[in-house]
Amino acid sequence: MSSRRSFLKFLAGSPLLAGMPIAVRALAQGDIDKAVDALDVFDFEVLAKKALPPAHWGYMATGVDGEETLKANREGFTRYQLRPRRFVDVSRLEMSMELFGARYNSPIVLCPVGSQKAFHPDGELGAARAAQAKGNLQILSTQTSYGVEEVIKARGGPIWYQLYTTDNFETTTKLVKRAEASGCTVTAVTVDLPAGRNTATMQRFQRADTRACGTCHSDATGNLANPRVGGGVSASKPMFAGINTQGLGLTSPSLTWDFIKRLKDVTKMKVVIKGLETREDAALAVEHGADGIIVSNHGGRATETGRGTIECVAEVVQGVRGRIPIIVDGGFRRGTDIYKALALGATAAGIGRPYIWGLSAFGQQGVERVIDILNNELRLAMVGCGARSLKEITPASIVDTGRRA
Ligand SMILES: Cc1cc2nc3c(=O)[nH]c(=O)nc-3n(C[C@H](O)[C@H](O)[C@H](O)COP(=O)(O)O)c2cc1C
Repeated sequence: MSSRRSFLKFLAGSPLLAGMPIAVRALAQGDIDKAVDALDVFDFEVLAKKALPPAHWGYMATGVDGEETLKANREGFTRYQLRPRRFVDVSRLEMSMELFGARYNSPIVLCPVGSQKAFHPDGELGAARAAQAKGNLQILSTQTSYGVEEVIKARGGPIWYQLYTTDNFETTTKLVKRAEASGCTVTAVTVDLPAGRNTATMQRFQRADTRACGTCHSDATGNLANPRVGGGVSASKPMFAGINTQGLGLTSPSLTWDFIKRLKDVTKMKVVIKGLETREDAALAVEHGADGIIVSNHGGRATETGRGTIECVAEVVQGVRGRIPIIVDGGFRRGTDIYKALALGATAAGIGRPYIWGLSAFGQQGVERVIDILNNELRLAMVGCGARSLKEITPASIVDTGRRA
């Protein structure tokens, strides 16, 4: 075993394999049996695919329609390049980030991802313990597989609660009050899925999965994969315990901007809107009292816009005019991606799939390693470009080439 390992290590480092990064990755991945051995977040992607049943992998990995937006979320970053500055004393760096009076160790946010027990038995609790260990912000999904109270306990401090609006305000109020009572300080209301989405690729993965889904979770179609967002709500989800879910929609097609005021009237939590992509909506969000914005296209899982979220940040910044903080998520896989978002004016960047890959492969340790890898890459980008703190990452830190490479 150890000789096989040494051989793989030798091969991975061999100049013979230079120019064959994919082959090197395949070899090296045979060698990863501890989270700390992963070299970048993509190592965890391969491990997660191996670890998960096809239906669960499909639920996580896929987008909508022809997956153009999913791809655009990655490709969008190639439009921007870094502008390094030299002879700056970067021997001490400040990477901490403040949001609504709370300080976090870095500007990396764990985005809400539903049904995390489908990826690892520890689910959201594993993510919470990792967020605690690393000092990062976690946002918990309405579709969480553990109740908000348990997750806050595992985090050992406040988290944010992601809200699906439902189509019944009394129910929405119950969700919000429960989140607030448990100690959540902010609710992030997701607005990018008013009524359903087209999940053809995910459904193909489900068809390829020969297991009987009903043996693990009660609703083989709607519960785990939630393909009918905008449709039904599963009563088995902890946040819907004790709520009559008969005929209840998780989202609603009829909501308008006045929803924000209604929401603010029933909670003291800050209200952040998740799923905005335009200058116009950014300005309307501020006008209607939003406390923050998450620029997001749901990880390419909502509308097939063909636009990467990083490409939306500049116009959202223009609409906001510095009045409220902006977070952006979608396709963040490298420290340099985060650097570009901050340069464009975001306060923080969110990750979804990368920490779920880590969770799938190694539970809490995997999530911790994903955060460490991205922190380290961001640190190196800051060192290399002469930015001593997040504040020193400004529009002058990048070039917008105007088109994707
Ligand atoms: C499997 C999965 C489940 C998700 N569930 C939710 C959810 O319940 N609520 C929500 O607002 N966003 C949800 N999202 C979107 C994420 O919060 C985030 O916007 C997205 O994953 C960021 O893109 P990335 O995966 O490329 O990092 C989900 C994303 C994935 C991949």
